[in-house]
Amino acid sequence: KTLQWEVDGNHPRENDLDEAAELLRTGGTVAFPTETVYGLGADARRTEAVERIFEAKGRPSDNPLIVHISDRAQLEELTAPLEGSSALLAAKLMDRFWPGPLTIVLPAKPGAVSPRVTAGLATVAVRMPAHPVALRLLAASGCPLAAPSANRSGRPSPTLASHVRDDLSGLIDGIVDGGAAGVGLESTVVEVDGDAVRILRPGGVTAEALREVAARVEYDAVAEPGAGIAAAAAAPAAAKAEAPRSPGMKYAHYAPQGEMRLVRGEQDAVEAYIAAKVRAAKERGERTGVLAFAEHAARYEADCVLVVGSLAQLDTAAQGLYHALREFDRQGVQRIWAETCPETGIGHALMNRLSKAAGHNVIRV
Ligand code: TXA
Ligand code: MG
Repeated sequence: KTLQWEVDGNHPRENDLDEAAELLRTGGTVAFPTETVYGLGADARRTEAVERIFEAKGRPSDNPLIVHISDRAQLEELTAPLEGSSALLAAKLMDRFWPGPLTIVLPAKPGAVSPRVTAGLATVAVRMPAHPVALRLLAASGCPLAAPSANRSGRPSPTLASHVRDDLSGLIDGIVDGGAAGVGLESTVVEVDGDAVRILRPGGVTAEALREVAARVEYDAVAEPGAGIAAAAAAPAAAKAEAPRSPGMKYAHYAPQGEMRLVRGEQDAVEAYIAAKVRAAKERGERTGVLAFAEHAARYEADCVLVVGSLAQLDTAAQGLYHALREFDRQGVQRIWAETCPETGIGHALMNRLSKAAGHNVIRV
């Protein structure tokens, strides 16, 4: 049975989270809101607890989990010190971006967390979330919490408690409903290398923001701008050649059940292409969908036209993406065409997730 609690996301009251914290202390699994997406938490030190996360999600066991903390003092318990300029840069990143959507891969202190959390790596990914409920729950439980996104593996990440219920009801011990998550996309995962920050997974903290703190910002091949949305022929050869440094990047995440394609090019050409495809698919009796920016949505005539957000305010598109992907499934859409946006700011993470959802199926018109 899955317990549920409704709390005020901005101001959880003192005792609201007592039961959830107690469940976590005793080895349970509890989903809770963060400022990125909902996470499914368990005590990172207890292997039986962490195993229940993998079971509930159906997650491949070689994909390590992020450990969440509410206090920088917990780092000492979880990680081994970095050296020299790496240590200085890591501290600067924490000063600037914690609490917030930045996950930093650090040397693990041997034996500190379950080997199931690190999937056998010598490193551990740590983040301090900037959500009042998450911070409260972390502090009240007194545990470092391993918490992947609270979705069934392969489904879009949850940005609402109802998404968590749809995927995991009956499979986990509790759900804290604190309203909509913030950013709508997961945290940025980075590693620190001397005076360089390397982005392993683009996310809520943009490359532009990292550049304000780090002398150099680099990308793991799979995380490069364009890696996902280059036309199929030019697909990221580098990305395929080498295993991504963030193991989760190799999985085809976030996919809706319908077949999705991204369409890039001049806006007029994009609209004409999609209109023709929608017409042909409707003639074949297929249920069609278009994922469009607010500025263009009225121009499409598919069975299900969803607005991802505004092109002029890409933050809104980040917030709307996963809900829209789930909505296509709910409406039984079989074929989906999606518009694209520039990969600047949060647009980089947005296109990374969208192109994964489309299986890197990109059409240039
Ligand atoms: O915003 C987020 O990060 C959300 C919320 C719940 O905090 N969590 C999340 O977790 O997205 P998950 O498990 O869906 O993604 C974790 C990512 C994966 O790509 C995983 O491979 C990577 O972090 N990761 C974890 N530990 C790592 C490590 N030691 N080295 C490299 N990558 C690691
Ligand atoms: Mg995930």
